Parts: sequence; structure tokens; C-alpha cells
Amino acid sequence: MPERLLVTGGAGFIGSNFVRRMLRQHPDLAITVLDKLTYAGNRANLADLEGDPRYRFVQGDIADASIVDALASETDAIVNFAAESHVDRSIEEPDAFIQTDVHGTFVLLEAARRHAHRRYLQVSTDEVYGNVPTGSSREDDAVRPRSPYSASKAAGDLLAQAYQITYGVPAMTTRASNNFGPYQYPEKIIPLFVTNAIDDAALPLYGDGQQVRDWLYVDDHCDAIALVLERGEPGEVYNVGGGNELTNLELTRMILELLDKPMSLVRRVPDRAGHDRRYSVDSSKLHALGWKPAHSLADAMAETIDWYLRHEDWWRPLKSGDYLEYYRRQYGERLAAGVAIE
Ligand code: NAD
Ligand code: TYD
Repeated sequence: MPERLLVTGGAGFIGSNFVRRMLRQHPDLAITVLDKLTYAGNRANLADLEGDPRYRFVQGDIADASIVDALASETDAIVNFAAESHVDRSIEEPDAFIQTDVHGTFVLLEAARRHAHRRYLQVSTDEVYGNVPTGSSREDDAVRPRSPYSASKAAGDLLAQAYQITYGVPAMTTRASNNFGPYQYPEKIIPLFVTNAIDDAALPLYGDGQQVRDWLYVDDHCDAIALVLERGEPGEVYNVGGGNELTNLELTRMILELLDKPMSLVRRVPDRAGHDRRYSVDSSKLHALGWKPAHSLADAMAETIDWYLRHEDWWRPLKSGDYLEYYRRQYGERLAAGVAIE
């Protein structure tokens, strides 16, 4: 593990779990978090680390070359989590995705190049492979992104590889499947459905609910990133799959059973535009490096739901103000057109 790490997007869901976990596991590690604090960034996600001399928070944009350059000069490695990360918002308003996920990644790679960083890790996604009707994507498969989100992530991912080849920046890329766990912003399906169900509110299931996602517990993803940061080969891409492929309907049933809530809360609503039916990655390359998920889906899902039940003080304030505006735009007409599932 490098001694001085710059973690961008560290106030978001996965980044905050990563920072907490790394500081716990590596006593000699110092982490600087650079985060713009968009709607998805939240200092409360890192509140328990305030006061730890090994942790520093800087509010700023990864697309701002002057701030990135200053922080890169004081660190040895970068892990880039910072991104606009929600597919539905990318459909509604793609601009910020291009600005952060593409241009922001470029600014970070330039800084890693200028300061001869020891390591750069680009946190990418299985969504860059596009829709995968059968089989599982391998790292050398073509990228065929189909949403503004996945296209902007693919651009950042390819830039990281190009910087390794062209300039020798020691950049690695991870492509993880859908994450779940504590501190996930309640716009993604699991925290949205869990918190809605707690309040006996409708669960808006897109289309026929037969889309497949491979669920990965956030701690397992963080361990994969740490391993690649330490032992990955520059220029290489590593898939990170949870090995838990479920249809959205199966996932919804699981959530409602764990909360002891009825399926009558589910509303089938008009589908997402360009909705990818399935993602699936082959993670054997990362298994060979020494990683496999340590958590079972059943245990991790139960723990996660329990966390949301015990942390209403964390998510209730998020479901207010601009969030309610977004919810109305995204779901108002959909829910009005929705139908019961059973
Ligand atoms: P998130 O939306 O919860 O967090 C993103 C963080 O980035 C927020 O704290 C936000 O404030 C910050 N940010 C956004 N724009 C920024 C900018 N211009 N400058 C600095 N900070 C900025 O996202 P997440 O779910 O934690 O995802 C983290 C990373 O992992 C993303 O790159 C995402 O593409 C990738 N990923 C996510 C998943 C998943 O299932 N959530 C799966 C695979 C890969
Ligand atoms: P999401 O959590 O947005 O992750 P991603 O689109 O990056 O995979 O969505 C996961 C799946 O759940 C996806 O197939 C879309 C579906 N979904 C719904 O059915 N209803 C919802 O309200 C949301 C947010 C997602």
C-alpha cells in the first residue's frame, strides 16, 4: 500500500467505505480525500474519521487542474472513485457525466503523469461492456456502453489504459459489478427500495423486472481495489464480480422478505430508456491475483438492511429538498402509470 494516498470521490458510497477500511487496516497510511460534494457526496459518510491525523478532507473538483496538481504533489498514488454515477440521472442530464467522468479523469491522469505517481487506479464498472445476453465479459472483450453514464465511464477507463501505454503512468482499472452496503445514496435500487419499504411507500420496478445484475458487497469491492493497487500490473484491467446474479424481481422479493413487508408495495412502472438487460463479468483474472468475495449475498443483504433500519438519521435527511424534486421528475408519471405486480 502506498503511504500517501489521494482518494477522489471519497465522500461517496464506495469511496467512504474504502477510506474507512484502509485506515483501519493500514496504520501507516495517510489519506487525502478530494470530493466536490455533489448531491451524492456527504461528509457525514466520513464523520467518524474526523480528528484522525491520518485523514484529510479537501472539497474540490477533480476537473480543477490547480487543486488536483497541488494534492498530487503531496501524494504517491491516486484511487479515482469520483464520478457522476447514476444511470437515470445520466439519461436526464448527461453534461456533468462528461465533465467529471471523462474530463475529470483526464485531469487526474495528467497530474499522476506530472508527479510520477507510483500507482493510479481507475474505478470503472461492468456497465462499460454494455448488454450481455449470455456468458460473461472478459477484460479483453470490446466495450459497448449504451447509456451516457456507461459511455462516460468507458471513456475514463480507456484514457487510463492509454496513459499507461503512451506515457508510462502506472494505471490499473477495475470494472466492478453492482455494489450494495452502508452509505449508498437512496437513488440506487437497494437503498431506494429498502427505505421506501420501511415507510410502506411504493417500490417502482422498471419494465418486467427481469433485468439481471450481479450484486457485490461494498467491502469485497474495496478489498479488490486494495489488492489491485498493491499487486496489479500497470496497464491491466480487472473485473470484480460478486457472483450473485439476480433479476430485479428476485432482488425485490428478497428485500421485502427480509423487511417482512408485502409484495403489494411493488409497482411495475414504464422502463428505463435503453435499459441493459444483463451484466455479467468473468472475474477469474482477479481470482488468480488472490481475491474472492468474502461475504455471502444472504448475510451481506441482511446486514445492509439492518444498517438502514438502524441509520434513519443518515438517510431521512437525504430524502428531502432536491431529492424530492428528482423523485417527482423520475417517478411521478411512472408511478401514476404503474400497475401492481401480483
Ligand atoms: P457515488 O455517487 O455515491 O459517489 C460519487 C462521489 O464522487 C460523491 O462523493 C461525489 O460528491 C463525488 N464527485 C462527483 N463529481 C465529482 C467531481 N467532479 N470532483 C470531485 N468529486 C466528485 O458513487 P459510488 O456508487 O460510490 O461509485 C464510486 C465509483 O465507483 C464511481 O466511479 C462509479 O462509477 C464506480 N462504480 C460504482 C458501482 C456501484 O454499484 N455503485 C459499481 C461499479 C463501479
Ligand atoms: P441501479 O441501482 O440504478 O444500478 P444500475 O443501473 O447502475 O445497474 O439499478 C439497478 C437495476 O434496478 C437496474 O436494472 C434498474 C433497476 N431499477 C428499477 O427497477 N427501479 C428503480 O427505481 C431503480 C433506481 C432501478
